[in-house]
Amino acid sequence: MLAVRDLTKTFPARHDNGAVRALRGVSFDIADGDFFALLGPSGCGKTTMLQSIAGLETPDSGEIAMGDTVVYASAGGINIPANRRQLGMVFQSYAIWPHMTVFDNVAFPLAHGERKTGKAEIAERVKRALDLVKLGAFADRLAPHLSGGQQQRVALARALVHEPRLLLLDEPLSNLDAKLRDTMRIELRQLVKSLGITTLFVTHDQVEAMGMSDKLALMRDGVIVQQGTPQDIYLRPESAFAADFMGRSNLVAGRVNGNGAMVDVETPIGTIRCPAAATDLNDGIVVIRPQAVRLHGPGIGGQNCYAGTVEQVSFLGDVVEGEVRVGAGLLKIVVDPYRQVAPGQTVTVELPPERCVLVPPDSGSLP
Ligand SMILES: Nc1ncnc2c1ncn2[C@@H]1O[C@H](COP(=O)(O)OP(=O)(O)OP(=O)(O)O)[C@@H](O)[C@H]1O
Ligand SMILES: [Mg+2]
Repeated sequence: MLAVRDLTKTFPARHDNGAVRALRGVSFDIADGDFFALLGPSGCGKTTMLQSIAGLETPDSGEIAMGDTVVYASAGGINIPANRRQLGMVFQSYAIWPHMTVFDNVAFPLAHGERKTGKAEIAERVKRALDLVKLGAFADRLAPHLSGGQQQRVALARALVHEPRLLLLDEPLSNLDAKLRDTMRIELRQLVKSLGITTLFVTHDQVEAMGMSDKLALMRDGVIVQQGTPQDIYLRPESAFAADFMGRSNLVAGRVNGNGAMVDVETPIGTIRCPAAATDLNDGIVVIRPQAVRLHGPGIGGQNCYAGTVEQVSFLGDVVEGEVRVGAGLLKIVVDPYRQVAPGQTVTVELPPERCVLVPPDSGSLP
């Protein structure tokens, strides 16, 4: 449905700062009907990407196609204007008009669009869009007299009102409180899935991205560092940055010995046996999620088993987080709350080789 090829965008230098290379050759594809998340830290280029797809920002080079239609191509000099790209967008700030009613906000794209739409049809389509987001009863209310979550739904209804081929959402849930955000995540995904609309969702929240998307792309400094399913990226990160950004992890650096399918990595914790990386490495970082670590009683032997001492424990209710001193290293662990763990306890930690991921040494964890 959407194909983005080698997109670049540089904002020119201004008196207060140098040029910013916001997009440095970004390529990705979204399949028909998929919910796709673009994830990354603040300033990595997510909004620039979305605005380029929407036609509100003109890239420097590359190509963007929606279905069979090329909407932007630097080579062919193609740049279809935003109002003819048949997409719906919810902006990072909802950008709903405070002096208008809910009805007029949602009707705006129809009343002021490319195509002239008759009064009766506008009324019917606005009603349908408002019903979809469960705001049917609020049509006459002025926009400021709504809660944050309701305003968010107005913005969504407005984006859906002309049945777009592609829905672009820029951090649409970031202004909501935690509880409402949780509900809206599920509702939003169910809504667009039931309508069969292909959706590109931008967020800096990795839990939101994983929970909502079929596929996601992780961005950093204007490039996509990895893309795939949430499982691909969480369980098989290709860089320390990806591992770190997607959630808590142990990053254990060491020297790599051997060159088969399995290698031994000499680390401050001990020798860790793990699957080799895609390319041969002399040095590397072993990524182990705290949930991947198995905790046993003291004195247990076996592959990737190490004697350790519990250093710190935080009881969080749904889980218990802890740190175990192993050799000259410290490993984060997570255990269930019914398990007795206390500082000073001697234990055996097991790092199952299939749960260990070797990534290149210079693959940048978070600052
Ligand atoms: N109009 C502009 N002029 C100059 N620089 C810009 C402009 N818009 C964005 N930038 C810069 O381009 C980079 C990417 O910005 P962008 O808004 O795409 O980031 P983002 O990933 O959406 O961040 P956030 O999560 O904070 O919304 C940033 O360094 C930003 O400062
Ligand atoms: Mg942004």
